[in-house]
Amino acid sequence: MQNRQIRYVKRPTGALGVDTFELGEAPMPQPAAGEVLCRNLLVSIDPANRAWMQGATYRSQLNEGDVMAGYGLAEVIEGADGIAAGSIVGGDFGWQEYAVLPAGQVEPLAVEGELSHYMSILGITGLTAYFGLLSVGRPAAGETVLVSGAAGATGNVVGQLAKLHGCRVVGIVGNAEKAAFLTDELGFDAAVNYRSETYYQDLKAACPDRVDVYFDNVGGQTLEYALRLLNQHGRIVCCGSVSAYDGEAPEAGPRGVPGLITTKRIRMEGLLVFDFQDEFDQARAQLRSWVEDGKVKVVQDVLEGIEQLPQALVGLLAGENVGKRMVRVAEQS
Ligand SMILES: NC(=O)c1ccc[n+]([C@@H]2O[C@H](COP(=O)([O-])OP(=O)(O)OC[C@H]3O[C@@H](n4cnc5c(N)ncnc54)[C@H](OP(=O)(O)O)[C@@H]3O)[C@@H](O)[C@H]2O)c1
Repeated sequence: MQNRQIRYVKRPTGALGVDTFELGEAPMPQPAAGEVLCRNLLVSIDPANRAWMQGATYRSQLNEGDVMAGYGLAEVIEGADGIAAGSIVGGDFGWQEYAVLPAGQVEPLAVEGELSHYMSILGITGLTAYFGLLSVGRPAAGETVLVSGAAGATGNVVGQLAKLHGCRVVGIVGNAEKAAFLTDELGFDAAVNYRSETYYQDLKAACPDRVDVYFDNVGGQTLEYALRLLNQHGRIVCCGSVSAYDGEAPEAGPRGVPGLITTKRIRMEGLLVFDFQDEFDQARAQLRSWVEDGKVKVVQDVLEGIEQLPQALVGLLAGENVGKRMVRVAEQS
């Protein structure tokens, strides 16, 4: 039996194209002692996939010829070291049908209900929203929370959780349909299109009491605008900078750093969700109960088939997705 896989074959110089990848086949991998053989079910499509091509981030840079890296949810075919065959695990299985990993490098998941929720609301992006907003941003009821990438996987959850905590919520997105979705379907108070010619004026009008917490998924010019609009003792949650991923590194950072940080006594703090690993189970239980009570909606964008993976990532970076984008590579048995 062969293992279909998508390899990273050409380092992109500008915007990512599907020619960065190649679909191929390899012999089925064989687990050694202490390793598990997994069958990939759902592959996560993340802006970070593109950032890994630029250089080392929280993981090492990708090398040409590698199987494309990527987080997934998989079924264990051959278990080891307490990871049972038939169980569901999360891990970096890459863009391939089957993968072998050391047992210690997979996360066992006690799945209840929809598997895809462990990729969205109960997965990395839902948890990032939860810890980023509540533990780093720490908004109080009545404050204004501004979030960029707001119709995306992380951003839509940030906005919904901020509403749940009694905040005024303003989202920033790349088109009018996404803006309408946020206000009409998810209860955001306002949404602004960053591609509009009146972007900054629109943002100011949407934040009459200015901004107390800015949850930054994009960096760049939007971060500069947020700095201008933040109130004294405002907070910035530095979650990601997707505006800088799909091309060469930007030459200059936003103006206002450190001047506005100083004068407004802003707290600007980076977030890596894996720092909260010990609290994942507790956060998942809380998020699940909000979903069950109808207080948080699950927003997903699921594509079908391993061959869709390259275009799924290219499309994500172009803003095609609403909610958490993932690709189903196989059905759960
Ligand atoms: N720190 C952590 O632990 C952690 C964990 C997970 C994710 N993240 C970060 O969180 C952010 C969101 O990730 P996600 O997985 O939830 O992805 P996502 O928001 O579902 O998808 C990416 C979105 O980025 C927007 N985008 C693309 N190019 C842009 C640009 N030039 N300027 C502004 N927006 C642009 C697109 O929406 P539009 O149509 O609105 O442009 C697209 O839908 C990323 O920065 C990611 O790296 C961080």
